[in-house]
Amino acid sequence: MTGRLVPPDFLWGAATSAFQSEGGLDVDGRGTSVWDVFAQRPGAIEDGADGSRACDSYRRWREDVALLAELGLGAYRFSVGWSRIVPEGTGRVEPRGLDHYERLVDALLAAGIEPVLTLNHWDMPQALMAAGGWAARDTAAAFAELTTAVAGRLADRVSWWVTQNEPWIVSLLGYQLGLHAPGVTDLRAAVAAGHHMLLAHGLGADVLHQYRGTRVGVALSLFPCEPASPSEDDAAAAWGSDGYVNRWYLDPLLAGGYPDDMRAHWERAVGPLDVVRDGDEAAIGGRSDFLGVNYYTRRVMAAAEAGDGRPFPWRVVPPREEVERTDAGWEVAPRSFGDLLTRLARDYPGTPLLVTENGGVFGDGPTHDGRVHDTRRTAFLRGHVAAMAEAMDAGADVRGYLHWSLLDNFEWAMGYRPRFGLVHVDYATGRRTVKDSGRYLAQVARTGGLPPVPGIAPFG
Ligand code: FCB
Repeated sequence: MTGRLVPPDFLWGAATSAFQSEGGLDVDGRGTSVWDVFAQRPGAIEDGADGSRACDSYRRWREDVALLAELGLGAYRFSVGWSRIVPEGTGRVEPRGLDHYERLVDALLAAGIEPVLTLNHWDMPQALMAAGGWAARDTAAAFAELTTAVAGRLADRVSWWVTQNEPWIVSLLGYQLGLHAPGVTDLRAAVAAGHHMLLAHGLGADVLHQYRGTRVGVALSLFPCEPASPSEDDAAAAWGSDGYVNRWYLDPLLAGGYPDDMRAHWERAVGPLDVVRDGDEAAIGGRSDFLGVNYYTRRVMAAAEAGDGRPFPWRVVPPREEVERTDAGWEVAPRSFGDLLTRLARDYPGTPLLVTENGGVFGDGPTHDGRVHDTRRTAFLRGHVAAMAEAMDAGADVRGYLHWSLLDNFEWAMGYRPRFGLVHVDYATGRRTVKDSGRYLAQVARTGGLPPVPGIAPFG
C-alpha cells in the first residue's frame, strides 16, 4: 500500500497527558491531585515512582512542540492539569495554570499543529475526594467549573475538545479494583463514578457548545470482545462483556441511553441504579460531535460463574492460538481495530471518529548509533493504520489518528518501565531522542501512504 490512504485534511498526530508528562507538580500554584496522593501509597506504583519529574514537559514544552513540528505532525492531544487550574477543586481559578496552556496552544497553532485538548485525563484535584471524587454527583458540577475556566481562555482557538478520558478505566481501576487513583474498591462507587463522568461530559459539552466551532467528544477505551469458542455461552459472555466495557458508555453518549442488558447485570450486582436519575440520560446524549477511540487490544471472553471477586458472568481468557504480544503482554490485534471502527460506523452512524490513542509498549532504547530502532512499534503502527484505512474504505468516517504516545512517560501504576513513546526519554536528563517509529509516522503524515517497514528512511 503506497497510495494516499486518507483524505488530505486527515489529522496525523500524537498524544500525551498532563500528569504522565509534565512533572513540575509544585509550581505555578498547582493544587494536589489524586495521583499525587495515590503515588505516595506504599506499593501503589512500581519502583515507588511518582509524577514529580516525568518528562519535565511543564518546563520543556517548547521542545515537545519543536519535536511535533520536526516530525511534521498535524495534531497534538494533550490534557490540562485540572489541579493547575482549579487547585481546590471548586472556586478559585489559578491564572498561571491557564497562562501555561495558552502559551502551549499558541505555540502549537503557530507551528500549524491542531490542539486536541483533553479536560480530564485522570488527575482530578484531591480536594474533590472529600465528597467522594467521581462517586459524588457534585463532581460533575466541579468539572463544569473547570470547563468554563478553560473554555473562557481557549475556546476561541481550540476546536477539538475531549471532555473525559476513558470513563470505564477510571471506574474499573480507580473505584472498583483500586489499582489507580483514588484507590477505591467499591462496586457501587464504580458504577456511580462512570455515570458521573458521563454526566460531567454532558455539562461540559453544553459549556463548550456556547463557543462557535468547538467539537466535543469523550475518548473511550474500546476493547472488542470476541468469544473464545463458537459456543452460545461464550457468545453470550462476549456480548455481556461488550455491554460492560463498551456499550455502557457508547449507548448513553450516542444511542439515547444505557443498554438494558447491562443495566440488568449491574442491578444484579449492586441493586437499583438510583445514581441514574430521571433526565440524566437526556443530559448525556446528543452532545458528542465526535467519538474519541482509544484502542490497544481485544478481549477474548468465556462464560464463567459470577461470584466472589467476579461481579459478572464472564472472564477474559488467553486466545487459543499463538499471538504476537507487546512487551506489556498485550496481544497485538490490528484486525480487531479495523473491525471496531467498522462496527462503530455501523452501530452509531453519523458520529465522526477520531483515534485519540493507539500504541504499544516496546522497550527499545538508544543503541551505539544513538538511534532507537523500535522496529516492532513501527510494524505495530503500520498494521493498525492499514486496518484503519481499510475500515475507512468500508465507510468508517475517521478524521484522525493520534498515536499514544509522543513521549515515553509515566505509565500510571506501572511507573516508568513501559515505554510507549515515538520519542525516547532519558528520564535522568530529560533528553528526547526520536525513535525510528517516530520517523515512520512522520513519513506517513508527509506522504499520506504506508511505506514498507524495512528501509525506514533516515529522518530529515
Ligand atoms: C490509556 C490511557 C493513557 C495511557 C495508555 C497506555 O488507558 O488513556 O493515559 O496510559 O492507556
